[in-house]
Amino acid sequence: MQAVQSLSALVLAAGKGTRMHSDKPKVLHTLLGEPMLWYVLEAVRPLAGEGAYTIIGHGADLVRKQFPGERFILQKEQLGTGHAVLSAWSEILAGNVRWCLVINGDTPLIDGVMLERFCAAMMHDGVDLAFVTTTLDDPLSYGRVVRDAAGSVRGIIEAKDFDPKRHGEPTGEINAGIYLLRVATMGPLLSKISADNKQGEYYLTDLVDLAVRGGLRVGTLAAGDPLACMGVNSPLELVASEDALRRRIAQALLQGGVTIHLPDSVSIGPRVVVEPGVEIFGPCEMYGAAHVRRGAVLESHTWLKNSRIGSGSVVRSFSHLEGASVGEGCVVGPYARLRPDAVLEAGARIGNFVEMKKARLGKNAKASHLTYLGDAEIGEDVNIGAGTITCNYDGKRKHRTEIGPRAFIGSNSALVAPVRIGADALVGAGSVITKDVPDASLAVARGKQQCFARRKPE
Ligand code: UD1
Ligand code: CA
Repeated sequence: MQAVQSLSALVLAAGKGTRMHSDKPKVLHTLLGEPMLWYVLEAVRPLAGEGAYTIIGHGADLVRKQFPGERFILQKEQLGTGHAVLSAWSEILAGNVRWCLVINGDTPLIDGVMLERFCAAMMHDGVDLAFVTTTLDDPLSYGRVVRDAAGSVRGIIEAKDFDPKRHGEPTGEINAGIYLLRVATMGPLLSKISADNKQGEYYLTDLVDLAVRGGLRVGTLAAGDPLACMGVNSPLELVASEDALRRRIAQALLQGGVTIHLPDSVSIGPRVVVEPGVEIFGPCEMYGAAHVRRGAVLESHTWLKNSRIGSGSVVRSFSHLEGASVGEGCVVGPYARLRPDAVLEAGARIGNFVEMKKARLGKNAKASHLTYLGDAEIGEDVNIGAGTITCNYDGKRKHRTEIGPRAFIGSNSALVAPVRIGADALVGAGSVITKDVPDASLAVARGKQQCFARRKPE
């Protein structure tokens, strides 16, 4: 998709989100690990490019922080969607564009292809104002579309202001909160919006009535998929949208050749790449910028974020991976914990109750049981015995442990960093190693075993 020439976009994200009952700005609430606003920007950016602005207000600093590099406009007081667009209008005029796409920031299921189709069709029709509609059995709290006997749009009436006596029986046709405005003709109408309604807010939707009265052209596009238009105002709506998205992603992966057992119990974020030929057993969760290569197997209860899994690797049940990189043909878990910058080279193995952080395990190296490896560089073919701990923290600073290739660390050893264990070295079980161990040597650092005669029990 190419940015449509002469189009800017405003994403409305300044509202309080009162119905979420949360201090967090509504658009920062996440679906499958990504904030609501991320989805809307993904859909809008290909169309508007540099001309995409997000209007923020409530919790503005938090939103800015989470979206560095995004273009923001501050709406100081949140007086309604009409007021939000008006506060940003000078920026739109400065951009010298012909069209302005306006979209609610709480519509995360929207897809870019649909937005493009909407803009292209409406520009072609030469409208002054257009909006996306869909039809629901229950119009809930959405703005309702009112048409005359000939089917022409007369206005959008907000749910709280809707009165069948004045507006006719509801038809189920609702406003999705996505609008295309011709800058030249709609700009002057923005300042005519009043707050004379049940909520005392400046409704953007009043533009429709103003445009119709002014003899301007108003168009609508019916969205094929009502799900794509779902607004998120409450926790209930958030999880409903998240579930729809989750199913959409799992279906697409299944169709693309990923085997997902129990797909209803698998949550995969929109930035996760899963190659065909991967096998996933639910329940399981994968978020962020993760990448799972062909032939990998993820057993049930894997939780994974921003991690890479090499081809042919197996992640056994109940493993937790964040910011980790697992090479080809590795085995992780069950019950392993890989924290940021844990790196497993090809063929390495991590067993149950092993934790790694900022540590590299060389080719075919093994740490099979009950171990902590932090700030460590571990060579090829090393064997780390059960219960080994790299003591990386002295209370103030972190220190590194280096273990040369083919070294063997006996069980229950404490390696007090900074320390280096040489290549082919052997550390006796139960040692507390505080000094470097040269290559090809045996280090034993523990109390000598003594035996004393013992009186026989009576
Ligand atoms: C809005 C529409 C309604 C439509 C529905 C679709 C209006 C008046 N109503 O209702 O017709 O069916 O969306 O989901 O527009 N916002 C601001 N500044 C403000 C107020 C709101 O930026 O001063 C932002 C919010 O953060 C939100 C978006 O605008 O992302 C929509 O506001 P919201 O209060 O959720 O409107 P709805 O009641 O859902
Ligand atoms: Ca809403």
